Amino acid sequence: MESNQQADWMTRSLKSVWHPCTQMQHHETVPLIAVSHGCGAWLHDHDGRRYLDAISSWWVNLFGHANPRINAALKDQLDRLEHAMLAGFTHEPVIALSEQLAARTGHTLGHCFYASDGASAVEIALKMSFHFWRNSGQADKQEFICLSGSYHGETIGALAVTDVALFRDAYGPLLQRAHVVASPDARQAQDSESAADVARRAAAALEKKLQERAGRIAAVIVEPLVQCATGMAMHDPVYLSEVRALCDRYGVHLIADEIAVGCGRTGTFFACEQAKIWPDFICLSKGISGGYLPLSLVMTRDEIYQGFYDSDMKRGFLHSHSYTGNPLACRAALATLAIFDEDDVLNRNRQRAQRLADALASLASHPKVRHFRQRGTILAFDAAVDDPEKAASFSRRFFTAALQQELLLRPIGTTVYLMPPYILSDEEIDGLAARTQAVFEQVIRH
Ligand SMILES: Cc1ncc(COP(=O)(O)O)c(C=O)c1O
Repeated sequence: MESNQQADWMTRSLKSVWHPCTQMQHHETVPLIAVSHGCGAWLHDHDGRRYLDAISSWWVNLFGHANPRINAALKDQLDRLEHAMLAGFTHEPVIALSEQLAARTGHTLGHCFYASDGASAVEIALKMSFHFWRNSGQADKQEFICLSGSYHGETIGALAVTDVALFRDAYGPLLQRAHVVASPDARQAQDSESAADVARRAAAALEKKLQERAGRIAAVIVEPLVQCATGMAMHDPVYLSEVRALCDRYGVHLIADEIAVGCGRTGTFFACEQAKIWPDFICLSKGISGGYLPLSLVMTRDEIYQGFYDSDMKRGFLHSHSYTGNPLACRAALATLAIFDEDDVLNRNRQRAQRLADALASLASHPKVRHFRQRGTILAFDAAVDDPEKAASFSRRFFTAALQQELLLRPIGTTVYLMPPYILSDEEIDGLAARTQAVFEQVIRH
């Protein structure tokens, strides 16, 4: 009876829903899980099976599904104001959220501009940077620099600064491609190089590009500390301090895309804090609403904001989205920020991260594991799969095997990663580690 329900939902979904980031034909063999409800770190299907959401539902969920505190805030907000346009009007949730975020940068980035998805925040930062230079009489600064392996979203502007061929190449003719410079990915260390050496080498490559073209470059866009979508490529914080210095020296903006790595993922609230720098723009999304509602935003330094402040309408930043600053989403974000403070989340995450690393320690020396790495609550390793066909199907095979072990895990290529919500108990951490190892042993053997 229950099984029929699950199968029914799957059939109806495949007939009517076009799923994201999916070759739909793969669902001829890969299961599609119909979620009936969520609770804490767990997603439950219609058959009574459950799955530990070990990747936080695409890195958005911070404090579990159906979190009582976020739910209460949203229920309260629903009876006050679901939405009002943000041009000519304002409201408490968007004001309080902007104030609290600015305070978390010591008021260095004093204004927040709102959108819904991460890619829209990236578009906004790119447009703002270009428009700022235009308003400042430097209209030639029209180009952007991104890193090898960068990922900034799927809209046309965001894809132009994305360097993941699988997502970008089909749309190549539509894109005004950015300059791609070396990634500081610590896995590229040669001989006795340290991660910091790799970072300095990458910064030198960026400097070369800036020497050639700074007069045409509006901004450099980076994913601080972890380039997630390319396969959890991690780098030393010194890269960020070097890039900050180069951007200052050559007169270009630094855009920090903290959509995936912000909100505590890397151990500090903003990843940039670990390099003791502030960029000119910070893009936030995903975790900021606790994984509840689409919310993204761009924080800017005051001099950027001032560059648009004028009596001339055309010098203003006229970008808009209908749901800009949605009160429900902002209220979810405020409840999320409150949990950070009330539960001392960043400190407790350090213990959770350590326990997870300890529980998985035997994988670090496994003969089929390369580059076991961790930054904050992100833990990743690469599977050594020599056969190209097996490598191509590794992620799907791992996903399917993980489901049998009550885990939601979706490797990127042959990179297995864990990015769980910040609420796992010790037992859940130990169970996650043991089952991840079991799935890995099973998939690597076949
Ligand atoms: C670093 C980064 N930037 C931008 C995005 C795009 O965000 P969204 O999927 O909400 O458009 C993502 C999504 O994974 C991301 O990881």
